[in-house]
Order: sequence, then C-alpha cells, then structure tokens
Amino acid sequence: MAPLLLCALFWTASGQLTGPLIVGKTFMAGSTDPTSGSTAWALTSHGISEKLFTVDDTGSIVPQVGQSVSKVDTFTWDVTLKSDYKFSDGTAVTAQHVADCLGEMNRLSSNAQASLGTMTLTARDASTVRIVSDRATPVMDAVLAEWPFVVYVVKNGQRYFTGPYLVAHFAANNHINLVPNTYYPRAAERPTLEIKKFADGNAVAQALEQGQVDMAFHLPVDELPALRQLSGITVKSFLVGYHYMMWHNSRREPLSDKRLRKAIDMALDRQELTQELRGGRPTRSLFPENSPYDLGEAVPHADKSGAEALIETAGWVKNASGFYEKSGAPLTVRAVAYPQRPGLVLMLPVIKQRLEALGIVVDAHVTSGSSWDELDGIIAGRDYDLLLWAQHTLPAGDPSWFLNSFFRSDGGNNHGGLNSTAVDDLLTDLGHAEEHITRVSDTRTVHQAILEEVPVSNLMTPSWHVGLSSRLSEYVPWGSDYYVIHSDFGLPATTSTTTGQSTDVSAAHQSWFSAIGLMACALLTSQL
Ligand SMILES: *[C@@H]1O[C@H](CO)[C@@H](O)[C@H](O)[C@H]1NC(C)=O
Ligand SMILES: *[C@@H]1O[C@H](CO)[C@@H](O)[C@H](O)[C@H]1NC(C)=O
Repeated sequence: MAPLLLCALFWTASGQLTGPLIVGKTFMAGSTDPTSGSTAWALTSHGISEKLFTVDDTGSIVPQVGQSVSKVDTFTWDVTLKSDYKFSDGTAVTAQHVADCLGEMNRLSSNAQASLGTMTLTARDASTVRIVSDRATPVMDAVLAEWPFVVYVVKNGQRYFTGPYLVAHFAANNHINLVPNTYYPRAAERPTLEIKKFADGNAVAQALEQGQVDMAFHLPVDELPALRQLSGITVKSFLVGYHYMMWHNSRREPLSDKRLRKAIDMALDRQELTQELRGGRPTRSLFPENSPYDLGEAVPHADKSGAEALIETAGWVKNASGFYEKSGAPLTVRAVAYPQRPGLVLMLPVIKQRLEALGIVVDAHVTSGSSWDELDGIIAGRDYDLLLWAQHTLPAGDPSWFLNSFFRSDGGNNHGGLNSTAVDDLLTDLGHAEEHITRVSDTRTVHQAILEEVPVSNLMTPSWHVGLSSRLSEYVPWGSDYYVIHSDFGLPATTSTTTGQSTDVSAAHQSWFSAIGLMACALLTSQL
C-alpha cells in the first residue's frame, strides 16, 4: 500500500495525474547498443537517439544535433554542430564526442559504411567535425541523416543519447520504461512512456481492445473492422515510406538462374497483394511515387505464360500434376517472412498460391515474432530463396544509402547476392553526382540496371494502420515506423508560451520530479 501511495504522490507532484502512456509495438530495440544490427534505427524510433541531421514530417532534411555542412573537397567535409545541444546526462555535445561515436559506428556497423566506405573523423575545434571518407558523396547532410549515424557518448560503460526520452528501465524483448530527457526542450510537458513488445499484430490489437495500450503500432488489416466499432479507439491509416519487397537469393540454386528470378517476378500479381492487404499501391519501383526517384513505369501484370516460357528455357519440364521438375527433382523455393511487419505474413500465402499455380513448390516459413534471432540466423546462413522484406528506401531523403547498402557487391544488406561490376560502377558514378537533376538521372540508370538483374521483386508501397486510445487520439503518424515517438509525441497541440525562463526552470524541475518519481515507483513495485 505504502509504495502505491508514494507513487500517486509523485505523479500528482509532477503534474502527471495519469500513468505513463503505453505504446504497443511489434518490434523493439534489442538493447541500447546502436552498433548492433538495426538497433540504432529502433532507438531513434523510440525517441531515444538522434542524428546530426534528420528528415521532418514532409521528408525534407533538417539540422538536428548538427547545424550545417560545408564541402572542403570531393572526399572531405566539415560539419558544424549546434552550440546548445546536450546529452541526456547533461554533458554538452562536442565535436570530439561526435567524432568518437560516428567513428565507432563506422568501424562496427556495415550499415554505417554503405554511403561513405571508411570514414576518418577529427575534431577541428569544439564545434567542428571534419569527415574524410573513401567514398564520395555530394549530399553529406542527407548521408548524416541515415539511421546508423546516431550521436551518443559512453560514460562508465553506459550510453547517453540526445533524444526527447531516456531509458529508465530496459527489459529486453519485453518492455522499456522511458522518462523525458530533462535537457530536451519542453521536457516538463512530456508524458512518461512505456514501450511494450508484442509478438505480432493480432496480439497488439487485442491489447488495444482490452485497454492495455494507448497505441497499437501497427495493426493487421483484418483487425480493423472490430476495433473501429469500439468507443474510445481511433484507427488511422497512412501510406508509409516503406516498400514491401521480396529478395531473390541468387547465391544458391535454383534462383542463381536469372531466368527463374525473372519468371517469378513476372508471375507475381501485385494487384492481388494490395487487395489482400486492402490498401497500398502496387509498384516495381524501389522508391515511392511522390519522390523524384520513382521509376514511374507500368506494373507488369501477372503473366503466367511469359513466366512458364522462361522457366522452360531454363530446362524445367512440368510433370503430370503441373509441377516443374529437372532430372526428377522438383523446382522448390523456400520463402521466408517475419511477423514484426504483419503485412508480410499476410502476403506470404498469396505468393505461395500464385507460384504453385505456376508449377513451383513453395516451402513457406514465418519466423518467430518474439525476437529477431531466428530471422537474423536465416539471413546470416542465407537460408532462403525468397525473403519478404519491409524497407524504408528513402529514410534520409536520398537514394544512396539504400542502393549502396542493398545492391553493391560488398553491401552489408545485399540479401539478393547481386555481384555486378556494372552496378557497382554506376553506384560510384552516383556518388559523384552533385546536381539534383544528375542525381535523379543517375539513380534512374542504376535503378534500371538493378531491376534488370532481379535481385529483388519490389511489390508495393503499403498503407499502415495505427490504433490509438483517447489519450493519444490526436497523434499524427509520420509515414513510417522510424519516427514513431518523434519530438512532438504526446505534447499538447497548443502551448502557452509565456515569457520563457521562469516557466522553463519550473518545468525542468517538475520533470526531474517526474523522472525520479517514475524510477522510485519502478524500484518499489519491483520489490513488492
Ligand atoms: C509432380 O511434382 C509435385 C511436386 O514435387 C509432386 O507433389 C507430384 O506428386 C508430382 N506429380 C507426379 C504425377 O509425378
Ligand atoms: C563477385 O564475383 C567475383 C568474380 O566472380 C568474385 O571474385 C568476388 O569475390 C565476388 N564478390 C563478392 C562480394 O561476392
């Protein structure tokens, strides 16, 4: 009883009359170590980490911890930092901190090597970082807005970031308690949060229905009609910056044969897939239609006879029940999807049915949703022929990161196993294209060269659905799962902007109170 009373007292004193907002997600950062896998992405999506530059709600590049960039020569840039930025422990961000953390990311994470190769970073003075890279870029602010380039400092083995929230408690694969970073603007107005991990979209939908979460991110389409009936629940649907795609593993048989990759790409019915998801737009283009990098070409329709002709040229013959065989062995592919993106799991049986009608045996497999381990193992062992995938292809507004990371021969995310000197050379050309109009035309050239090799079948730009309780009904999704908890999250829409200082001081004070209160509550309840 006593601990509960104490908690209530803290909440009241800090102006938080209600408990933390609970954000239910189908994915969660695996740790607070941004050098591991895609953790840096998740930490930013949780409101914990930030970068030197970022994109705003309209997709434009804007300064965040950085202020500006200036080009010294083809491989050398200077970045000037904002003068007033602090880590969540109160340490002022200096050029040396930035050189240290981005240097570490570049050494340890292949995702931080995609656009620039090896980087050498030095602090020229307290607020200027010099970056020398072995790969050129004409758009350094867009590169530094890529998700791996998060800013942090390590103190006593602990990492501190600069985002609106900091971790109060991290329970791996289960939940994270977040409190406002008191060194971030408007900290006192921010609610405390809990991010809760759910195994799949149906589980998070059920939690929303039962009033256990304030946000369900994101919902499978088959849950929407029932949720829309419930009072106090708002469902918002939005076209995302993601694309749904399917990698073709060309490193092993049978898809090492380009004719088979082409046949599968040709046989897919993208219209049928968007119908299954009741939303989204079919496209083969790797970039969204509202970007200058869209290929803007007609989507080829399900072409079964064209696909059959290609497979037959490759020496496969149908048996009496309509399945392809060669020397007595059936034409079989292993297709893998992961439940952290519910749409992929809904598309998998539709793709299987379509390919089986063509005469290909499909061994369809959905990985575990409780962690990324199974999927990571499958990717590391390259144990798939087809891999369904959700990817934000323009997270920083420029196509370089995605193209280099996923299609360069030595790219860290080359899931199709593309190994083409021609594509590598075109990517290098893109790295030197400075004028916007040249970037658009060079991107188009490499984009077409990539699709010609069929390392991937792009499927659609999907539309996603987020469910909200009345406490978050004003939430505006930012077009992906990248900035779910962005700097405006949970803030009152309008604020009384009385003359700064005194309000700010009491605000910061209140927020500390709230942070201490939450930690005390967490401690006490864990001891109950
Ligand atoms: C044709 O191949 C499929 C897939 O391997 C197999 O299930 C089926 O039994 C075969 N049919 C005949 C008549 O051999
Ligand atoms: C690409 O292919 C070439 C020639 O076959 C080979 O030497 C090279 O190791 C391959 N590169 C990768 C990254 O697999």
